[in-house]
Amino acid sequence: MPDKKEITIEELAMFCKRKGFVYPSAEIYGGLAGFWDFGFLGVELVNNIKKAWWHVHVKEREDVVGIDGSIITNPRVWEASGHVKNFVDYIVKDKKTGEEFKVDAHEVESYKKNDKYIVEGVFNPMFTTNVGPHAGKGNLVYLRPETAQSIFANFKLVFEQARLKLPCGIAQIGKAFRNEVAPREFLFRAREFEQMELEYFIAPDTKCPSEYMDEIKSVEVALLTEDMQKKKQGAKVMKIYDAWKKGIINSDWHAYWLAKELGWFLSLGARGEKFRARQHGKDEKSHYAVDTWDLEYEFPMGWRELEGIANRGNYDLKQHQEVSKQGFEVLVDDKGTKVLPEVICEPSLGLGRAFIVFMLEAYEHDAKRDNIILHLNPKLAPYTAGVFPIVKGDKYEKLAGNIVKDLRKEFSILYDKSGSIGRRYARNDEMGTPFTITIDEDSLRKKTATIRDRDTTKQVRVKIDELKDVLRKLVAGEIKFEKAGKAVETRVK
Ligand code: GLY
Repeated sequence: MPDKKEITIEELAMFCKRKGFVYPSAEIYGGLAGFWDFGFLGVELVNNIKKAWWHVHVKEREDVVGIDGSIITNPRVWEASGHVKNFVDYIVKDKKTGEEFKVDAHEVESYKKNDKYIVEGVFNPMFTTNVGPHAGKGNLVYLRPETAQSIFANFKLVFEQARLKLPCGIAQIGKAFRNEVAPREFLFRAREFEQMELEYFIAPDTKCPSEYMDEIKSVEVALLTEDMQKKKQGAKVMKIYDAWKKGIINSDWHAYWLAKELGWFLSLGARGEKFRARQHGKDEKSHYAVDTWDLEYEFPMGWRELEGIANRGNYDLKQHQEVSKQGFEVLVDDKGTKVLPEVICEPSLGLGRAFIVFMLEAYEHDAKRDNIILHLNPKLAPYTAGVFPIVKGDKYEKLAGNIVKDLRKEFSILYDKSGSIGRRYARNDEMGTPFTITIDEDSLRKKTATIRDRDTTKQVRVKIDELKDVLRKLVAGEIKFEKAGKAVETRVK
């Protein structure tokens, strides 16, 4: 998609609503700021993003397992983690417009010096509620502001039961909540959101294995160090591996995970030039972080954090060890040596932000086709294929119905028998359906069907018996579309 026209975040939100991806929550009552409902297409895209993330971060790896913790937990978790005391935003008011927004601790001084604003005070964005019927201090609990803490609180159990050995990771996908002062920019800053987080633990001072580093050798990104930001320099494209070798990225593990995270987006069709890695300044880091690199994306609103990749050191396990009085050290050899693991890297990705990125990357208004085409990767697309009988008659519909039933055992399939074939193609192009299968006269006579490629509108004819196998290979990217069957003349684009 060369020279793709970018759209605004508002245009994306409108498109998502019109097509059934995302709606303001309970819009019939005016919605509620910072809360969103996913529609019939959105839920499929979200599930596919989670599945793709889980596959790469957990299923493909020997060293990572997953958990699913509760949203509300013992409030001592949040006292130990430092969130009750240190997880605060500063509320700033624009004197002229009255608009309130939050700023981070490192930004507050500049607002204090600017007489256009009033710094109103600090605010802890953790939502609170009560367990049981009585409100009161003893019953006060928090909706988790990050999923990470249930990984730390359960670390010892999971490590032992899954028979993990350092280095290793524990991953989780789940809801988190932050009572944002000014939720805005569609799903970018929502009050209820989902996180995909991995806590990667190592024994202190242990190196990243060379075979891991070999995997990332060719990955490039525009890098912006703390120093470059101080000197107001622009980002510089370099190999992440070389940045580690030159000491620009301090830890080999940090370089490895930065490259893996970027690689995940690229493997699903995102353009490398839309990403950069920015190091947090000293005053900008979260209360638990030793070093943080954000994987940033050039959103329509500008460069913003897509994914935080923090070195949390042993902060969290140490805190839980001290407050719970339970030992969090683990054995590292058969001589009985124990260490307190360090979280050398925490890739922490908001699902809503990943959703926006994949939609922005996919969205194109094709002037020639006079239609929006969503070029979603087939692994992410809500429907893998549409099946359309294009000749009227019971026997064609019956055959199409049987094909749909069979394909649905493995794929997400949309059956559509109404409207002109052109309209049916156009509807599916807008939903991001990568392949559409048509049933015609030859389907009965020769037991073949055509498959159309969303992006090129090219068509191939394949045996009905082979449809499943061909779709499987197309989705996995194992064959090029042109090689999937015999090319046929495209009558309707
Ligand atoms: N776990 C990191 C974050 O929620 O920002």
